Amino acid sequence: MATIKASSYEILIDEDYAKLNAYVESLSPSNIIIIVDENTEVHCLPKIKKHLHQDFLSIKIPAGEKYKSISTCQGLWETLIKYNCDRQSLIINLGGGVIGDMGGFVAGTYMRGIRFIQMPTTLLSQVDASVGGKLAIDLSSYKNIVGLFLEPSMVWVDTSFIQTLTELELRSGYAEVIKHALIRSKALWQRINSRKLDYSSEEWSTLITDNIAIKNFVVQQDFKEGGLRKVLNFGHTIGHSIESHFLNSTSPLTHGEAIAAGMICESYISHEQNLISESELSTITSYIRSLYPINVRLSTISTELIRIMGHDKKNVSGQILFSLIEGIGDSTYDVHVDDDIIIKALEYYDNITS
Ligand code: GLY
Repeated sequence: MATIKASSYEILIDEDYAKLNAYVESLSPSNIIIIVDENTEVHCLPKIKKHLHQDFLSIKIPAGEKYKSISTCQGLWETLIKYNCDRQSLIINLGGGVIGDMGGFVAGTYMRGIRFIQMPTTLLSQVDASVGGKLAIDLSSYKNIVGLFLEPSMVWVDTSFIQTLTELELRSGYAEVIKHALIRSKALWQRINSRKLDYSSEEWSTLITDNIAIKNFVVQQDFKEGGLRKVLNFGHTIGHSIESHFLNSTSPLTHGEAIAAGMICESYISHEQNLISESELSTITSYIRSLYPINVRLSTISTELIRIMGHDKKNVSGQILFSLIEGIGDSTYDVHVDDDIIIKALEYYDNITS
């Protein structure tokens, strides 16, 4: 059980729902709307229903990244109007990154902004998406391209929800755990390196708390991503382009699988820039590959991937800028990398997987 203070709100990692009830009561909301998808409606909503004393209405949206769209938002805004939501209403986003990002975006724009609580239910959203106030939806194949920075009223993390996840979903979130270790904590790297996802529930709870603390520390220094926060994008410049490319294919990758491939490529670039040693590159590559043995060829689609990277939100004046690691446990940002090095990184990935 832990409480982590963000600037204007608290992140409670807890299962004592009396604390949640006390907080919700203190907000005196005119009504409460819980946004769920078909998974959280079955696996998580019953627990909330049992413990939350206040009445609420729920809205169900379809699960999946392809529904993180303006048309789903329109349906949500229209339902809020139908439910007579006003400026004192409270939205609770009960779900993974899609629900948190989109539910927060809808709350942040409805009537110019109403209060919302993030209740992340996946490992990915618990260790990353729900912390830091990034809210967004996708447009065409561009991920998170329309959105805003806005803090929630509270983040409530019930780590028992991750017991309801599939192995695929757990692995997807775990890529962000690896990222946090690589960019910020050698101690965390030493704890996780060579481990499979065989943590006990107590270990998961501690791991999630430690990762939230890392994420929150970085966000507290730089909420709007003018500088340091960019390090959280390690693995994501190439990873997002891979994820976007395969989004509408017959075999889309999970976010974590794409970011895992992205972290291998960007570790290679870090090595090319003399920021990590050959042996560090090799240790990182083999650990990530052992958990994410996905088979995709990247060098054959390098032109398309580089085109997508050209739209990365970290870019300035059309230059693709990378966040890279400096040794294991430290990182840097705004590194311009030429296309030929990016292509070599994609080839490196293909060679280790062939
Ligand atoms: N997921 C990266 C960030 O929140 O900045």
